[in-house]
Amino acid sequence: MSFKDQLNTNKIPEHVAIIMDGNGRWAEKKGEHRVFGHTKGVESVREALTAAGEIGVKYLTLYAFSTENWNRPKEEVDALMDLLVKTITMEVDSLNENDVRLHVIGDLDSLPPGCKEALEESIEETKNNTRVNLILALSYSSRWEITRAIKNIVEDVQNGDLNSDDIDTETIDNYLNTVNFPEPELLIRTSGERRISNFLLWQLAYSELYFTETLWPDFKKENFFEAIYNYQKRERRFGKTSAQLLSDD
Ligand code: FPP
Repeated sequence: MSFKDQLNTNKIPEHVAIIMDGNGRWAEKKGEHRVFGHTKGVESVREALTAAGEIGVKYLTLYAFSTENWNRPKEEVDALMDLLVKTITMEVDSLNENDVRLHVIGDLDSLPPGCKEALEESIEETKNNTRVNLILALSYSSRWEITRAIKNIVEDVQNGDLNSDDIDTETIDNYLNTVNFPEPELLIRTSGERRISNFLLWQLAYSELYFTETLWPDFKKENFFEAIYNYQKRERRFGKTSAQLLSDD
């Protein structure tokens, strides 16, 4: 039986985040250029998005480009930016047909102007869709996001718009790029690496972490369902005991 058929439809996570890793290694193993791996990675983005829609995952966040990725060879950075713009522009009709709303988190101002404009256009064109929210983390890092939030909080305290005694965890939530999204219940990372790599550090506080050896270009719908199946077997305690959870039911 497939993993999809074994899923408990009452326990589908609302938000899944993915660190799409292993494009470069996948390509190098085949004797190809790293950029070929990123191109193939786009197909896996489509697979994950379709799979999320099929089982009712409402939010899918994909780590597409980190702040640190700017340090890669210029040729690879340019190719990735080009791929992003082309994919987003080409896929906008398909996003609309499938009722997918596009969002971006990250330092959009650091993207090449053409890339930023293409993204803003697609965000606008998909803004009425409601089935799945596809959140691309682009030029994103959690430390960048938290630093920016702190600066904005300090500014608002200084302006008198915020009272420092009122700052609590919800205040921090409200200053992050993810303010409109629930916290991910599940984080998937492909390619065998077991790190968070500066991704959603605050938001992943209680998330289940799922690591798979599969390289991102090989990640298909059934791999996504397998991760959800694995997640459903876990007990999420949020600091409570198992007995407390049973009595809460
Ligand atoms: C990590 O693999 C992947 C990336 C840095 C880029 C991910 C981008 C895509 C899948 C394509 C565009 C995406 C969208 C949303 C249109 P890596 O290069 O770090 O692989 P390695 O660890 O094997 O070197």
